[in-house]
Amino acid sequence: MKQLSVNHLLGIKYLKKQDIDLIFETANHFKEVINRPIKKVPSLRDITIANLFFENSTRTKLSFELAEKRLSADVINFSASQSSVKKGETLIDTVNNILAMKVDIVVLRHPSVGAGVFLSKHVNAKIINAGDGTHEHPTQALLDSYSIQEKLGTVKGKKVVIIGDILHSRVALSNIYALQLQGAEVMVCGPTTLIPKYISSLHVKVEHNIKKALQWCDVANVLRVQHERMNIKYFPSIREYTQLFGINNALLESVNKEIVIMHPGPINRGVEITSEVADSKQAIILDQVENGVAIRMAVIYLLAQQIIR
Ligand code: CP
Repeated sequence: MKQLSVNHLLGIKYLKKQDIDLIFETANHFKEVINRPIKKVPSLRDITIANLFFENSTRTKLSFELAEKRLSADVINFSASQSSVKKGETLIDTVNNILAMKVDIVVLRHPSVGAGVFLSKHVNAKIINAGDGTHEHPTQALLDSYSIQEKLGTVKGKKVVIIGDILHSRVALSNIYALQLQGAEVMVCGPTTLIPKYISSLHVKVEHNIKKALQWCDVANVLRVQHERMNIKYFPSIREYTQLFGINNALLESVNKEIVIMHPGPINRGVEITSEVADSKQAIILDQVENGVAIRMAVIYLLAQQIIR
């Protein structure tokens, strides 16, 4: 049986192209499973998974939990706001206490960059990074590429622009790595203040004119402005941001081509994207969410195969 080249899913940076191919092949099978009348397989009946969320989440948390349950794993959920972290417990102590309950896989969302890598060096469990601060969100990038492949037949050779708050976005960095690994061309577009200085080292195109960016691309992945990570003002007002970088029907009609619209969620309707675009036929936002379950089933299944009993 084919195996992943990594022991944890800590970031797309650590994956090879054949890992992504294997995850997509496995996800194809699980996508068929979750569309059956009985959406569950007994594959991971002897595996226990802890979902540790130290930051808010709707899609990722529910998607992982559903993926685990569809694979028949035992699941425990931990939310930092209701835990002893509030009493001063460290991350390693918290996780080791959870692992003492015989947990095999930890799904970790954490506000600190590198939290997953750190944990993988200190605890005896498989770690899946469900978002570490502004760094990486690997399963989001995998489901995004999988959704592009589903819609356009391939990722290779496609032109993808990532629009908005690139500076604070783990989705952007993981997408850049994943898309480039699969042979796509990548552009980022946003205000200068929201494009990180290290962007030139990533070999992506940079554009500040939204119309030019849309004229160039096949796919536009629209990001939310992450106000919760900003302690200074990066642009004068939301209204100005929307005028310069917001995606609306008039703008899309002025670009005479069919563009696939994506958004990782949560959406700020009327800020980075209007409702008419988010709910339009060219948007695949809910397909991304559906594919997230199949992709996460695939990642969990493949990592669980490495656990020797
Ligand atoms: N896309 C994403 O990570 O959404 P959540 O923050 O709701 O998990």
